[in-house]
Amino acid sequence: MAADNTFDVVVIGAGPGGYIAAIRAAQLGLRVACVDAWRNEKGGPAPGGTCTNVGCIPSKALLHSSENYENATRHFGDHGIRIESAGIDVEKMVARKATIVRQNNEGIVYLFKKNGVTFFHGTGRFEARDADGYRIAVAGSDTVLSAPQVIVATGSVARPLPGLAFDEARVLSNDGALAIRQVPRRLGVIGAGVIGLELGSVWRRLGAEVTLLEVLPAFLPAADEQIAREAFKQFTRQGLKIQLGVNIEGVDTGADAIKVRYLDSNKAAQTLECDKLIVSIGRLPNTEGLNGQAIGLKLDERGFIEVDADCRTGLPGIWAIGDVVRGPMLAHKAEEEGVAVAETIAGQHGHVDLDTVPWVIYTAPEIAWVGRTEQQLKAAGQAYRAGTFPFAANGRARAMGDTVGFVKCLADAQTDRLLGVHAVGPMASELIAEAVLAMAFGASSEDIARVCHAHPTLSEATREAALGVEGRALNI
Ligand code: FAD
Ligand code: NAI
Repeated sequence: MAADNTFDVVVIGAGPGGYIAAIRAAQLGLRVACVDAWRNEKGGPAPGGTCTNVGCIPSKALLHSSENYENATRHFGDHGIRIESAGIDVEKMVARKATIVRQNNEGIVYLFKKNGVTFFHGTGRFEARDADGYRIAVAGSDTVLSAPQVIVATGSVARPLPGLAFDEARVLSNDGALAIRQVPRRLGVIGAGVIGLELGSVWRRLGAEVTLLEVLPAFLPAADEQIAREAFKQFTRQGLKIQLGVNIEGVDTGADAIKVRYLDSNKAAQTLECDKLIVSIGRLPNTEGLNGQAIGLKLDERGFIEVDADCRTGLPGIWAIGDVVRGPMLAHKAEEEGVAVAETIAGQHGHVDLDTVPWVIYTAPEIAWVGRTEQQLKAAGQAYRAGTFPFAANGRARAMGDTVGFVKCLADAQTDRLLGVHAVGPMASELIAEAVLAMAFGASSEDIARVCHAHPTLSEATREAALGVEGRALNI
């Protein structure tokens, strides 16, 4: 083996977990290689993983484009803006998305160069453990990397409905759903979770008739119930048809239409006909091609790599982070773990607090939260106080013409320590950062309430919700 293929750390996977881990380890003076298998349309490298290629970034590009279209066609009139005729060029919208993805791929290549991370394109496959550490072959080449420390960041893949393979032309995972080139007349979505709501919103805004079929009787059960109720009301008002408590019996992919046979919540047999079907029923950890057996890497019963709270696997020097391990499947959680593991390898004290990882759903209204929901606090028997504040009473939201939703703060009844903050409404994704910071510092609701917030801003709604915990909101 060539001496220059010996590293201090090899990172397998260049999604947000892996590429950030590689950069942080290199910043700390370690000799780092990162190997990633993702291929662009031309077969070339496309680092960034699911997030950059078929996840966070392209979905937000399409959400933004489609929201602009909806604003132009439905809401600009309220501002006195007359648009005689507005149209949508889906090819151009998708091409714009592709450009943004490419810019992000190139950005990561640049960051690797800047930080001295050596990048290999191909599938990393464990070969063996020896006295120097671990050997990893890069498939498709005769390159073999060696390192005493390996960070596995191989991410996740879409979960198919049993018996229904993705063809990415009509039966779509997130991959195909982000590359639709013509607005479908009827779009079916199985699973009313995060992907279903975000991508369902994109195509509804552009004119598709969108129906979501969800197995659970409750809508967005991970969100605070009050927030989920408001979101459900808004989404159905916008035209998303959301059926809860259904049981999918089978899917026929006939030539003229896809037919989804299901039992509705009353156990009555129904058929949904659609032209395209997105299946978004969660994601599975990805360890394919890794050949973890060669070194004895352990998976749990659901296929995730087993790790402790610090992302250590049972094997010395082998770490795993991001979607391939327990915890929320979110890019920023993967990044946090990547930084923490790199710092721990370098002898520092890396740490991730899963309790302050924020959640965001980028629909309109946006939904965002951090910490506990009201139903979780009730179930745990924890005494709390709640304060809510509607955007309808916020000056900036009125000026924007975007007054749907509210912010809600939950605080310990005795100590006033913040236990959870929830928002549904404009820019909730940005507003939640203040709440995450407050919770990470162990703040009380009074701490937020006593901090000066610029006027007029949406963030004043957070402050008013915090004041509301003590029953002393000022503007309602
Ligand atoms: P991944 O991003 O999946 O990257 C893993 C990488 O490893 C891939 O490039 C893969 O090719 C590579 N790989 C796998 N096996 C090997 C191997 N053996 N050798 C070499 N390379 C290998 N999260 C958010 O926080 N915000 C969002 O807005 C958001 N939107 C999303 C929208 C969609 C449609 C989807 C599907 C997901 C979204 N997510 C979002 C989730 C987010 O994409 C994931 O949580 C995140 O990408 C996980 O990062 P990761 O580094 O663990 O894995
Ligand atoms: P999800 O877990 O958010 O939603 C899946 C939904 O499908 C659930 O409501 C589930 O009850 C339902 N479901 C499962 N099996 C079903 C069946 N047989 N029939 C009908 N419904 C069924 O998963 P999703 O939307 O696939 O997204 C995967 C993950 O990607 C998310 O959990 C999240 O971690 C990440 N993501 C994050 C985003 C963000 O942060 N904004 C955006 C998109 C994805």
